[in-house]
Amino acid sequence: MSILTFITILGWIQDSHQQAEYYLPKCSIRYETRHYYYNQLSADEIHQHQPLCNKTFKVAYADFPPYVFQDEKGNVKGLIPIFFQKIFNETCCLGQGMKFEYLPEKTHKQLVMDQHNYSIAADLAIPIPNFRDVDYYTGMYYSTILYNDHVDVAGVLEPREPADKMTSLFKSLIQTWPLLLMTVAMAIGSGSIVWILDNKTNNEQFPEHFPDGMAEGIWWAFVSMTTVGYGDRTPSFWAARLFAVVWIFIGVTFFGMYLGTITSVMTTNLQIDKEFQIQNKKIGVLSWTNAPKQVVIVMEGFVEEYNTPTEMIEALKQDQIDGIALDSFMMDYYMSQIKEAKPDVEIQTRGKTFKTGIGFVTNSEKIRNLITGFYGLNMDNIIQVWSGDIWKKAIEESIMSNKTGGGIWNEKFTRVNKNNKETLELFTYKHPSFLICLVSMFVTSCVCVLINQTVTRCKRKRQDVSMESQGVILKSIAK
Ligand SMILES: *[C@@H]1O[C@H](CO)[C@@H](O)[C@H](O)[C@H]1NC(C)=O
Ligand SMILES: *[C@@H]1O[C@H](CO)[C@@H](O)[C@H](O)[C@H]1NC(C)=O
Ligand SMILES: *[C@@H]1O[C@H](CO)[C@@H](O)[C@H](O)[C@H]1NC(C)=O
Ligand SMILES: *[C@@H]1O[C@H](CO)[C@@H](O)[C@H](O)[C@H]1NC(C)=O
Repeated sequence: MSILTFITILGWIQDSHQQAEYYLPKCSIRYETRHYYYNQLSADEIHQHQPLCNKTFKVAYADFPPYVFQDEKGNVKGLIPIFFQKIFNETCCLGQGMKFEYLPEKTHKQLVMDQHNYSIAADLAIPIPNFRDVDYYTGMYYSTILYNDHVDVAGVLEPREPADKMTSLFKSLIQTWPLLLMTVAMAIGSGSIVWILDNKTNNEQFPEHFPDGMAEGIWWAFVSMTTVGYGDRTPSFWAARLFAVVWIFIGVTFFGMYLGTITSVMTTNLQIDKEFQIQNKKIGVLSWTNAPKQVVIVMEGFVEEYNTPTEMIEALKQDQIDGIALDSFMMDYYMSQIKEAKPDVEIQTRGKTFKTGIGFVTNSEKIRNLITGFYGLNMDNIIQVWSGDIWKKAIEESIMSNKTGGGIWNEKFTRVNKNNKETLELFTYKHPSFLICLVSMFVTSCVCVLINQTVTRCKRKRQDVSMESQGVILKSIAK
């Protein structure tokens, strides 16, 4: 936490040394520091540096809540318009931003067809599903706005096979390895410190000799951390004892965390005793989306394509299909409608596989250049915008407007295996603290060994010297 704050402050200081003029043409101002620049430049200056900020763009859209939809007052809302406002207007143009003029609503097919006809093509067309890292969509320039590769499946759950349960249990145990490794690394580091602090005064329990003494220290650290405390090795020097107190606190906490994680993973895993099997089932997907389709194919289900969610939900109600697969944003939105159509259905997250996203296409080279550069430079901004409550509020808003969806946002329809994932994500090896912990513990141990070697060598030299001098004295006596 404090490290993150520190990095943010560092970033802010670094930003503030540069001028807004430098960032504007590239549209590369950081989302969290945008307010710093708000009063630095006048509207005219901003428009001068970034001419696209003074333009009005025509946007063609297909009604797809929660990505984009029209409310009953005729305003176009949704996740993508919010993104345009937050990123293009507030960040890229410092609030003096581009205006978006929305064309009348179209079907998704029409949207793409019209975009290919240069005489009627809009500046931007949304929403377009595509792979995340590609720059083209059927010959047009494409940019991703939102990652949507979490796929949810709605279907009637069936009991899980016991063998299947065991496999997933072991899998989750193996997934806790980063935390285990961190705990072990810390025990090794602390064991080394205790050994180096105590081996002068407590040579019997913690020998000075390198691998033996250190091994005793590590053994002691493990025994203390697990609160087993055999007491066969006990530090006696005051500094070693002081450190021991600190280590016992930290070690016990860490070890407790490891046990807690395993327990929670195991309980959630055992609780999921029902699951929706995709294999050999007919699953409805939207014809123009790709992530849900791929998940169904990979899991050996049969894909049934529909043009609108409403048709798909009707088919589920009539038992023409066994389940519905949607990306998690859309599932959040349609969940209550699906539940209404078929009450015994449950929602399950079933896979995050392919790198897919939702974005826009444009025929304009200028916009494309701006966005391509911008996207590369602003990955953090994009994640920041979506990591807050923004998307949730947008989905709630879309549901409240009663446009296509309906029903009321219902927190009760949470996904079955969500908790489990969150626990595991807490201790992923991708988190900087993982690497920091391993490296610092390795360095600590190395430093301890180094100190030990140096001290031993010095001692030996001194002994040699004193032996020599003794020899000289003996010789002189003999003479
Ligand atoms: C921005 O647009 C307004 C009106 O469209 C115009 O008056 C102004 O000169 C433009 N500013 C720049 C810097 O192009
Ligand atoms: C841009 O953002 C500012 C600040 O939120 C807002 O006042 C302004 O109306 C927005 N402009 C456009 C064109 O959306
Ligand atoms: C393009 O749009 C124009 C105007 O609507 C229309 O007349 C023309 O037939 C379209 N061309 C194609 C290839 O669809
Ligand atoms: C949406 O529907 C609910 C119940 O069907 C109703 O209470 C609410 O007023 C509607 N919202 C709007 C904005 O029309």
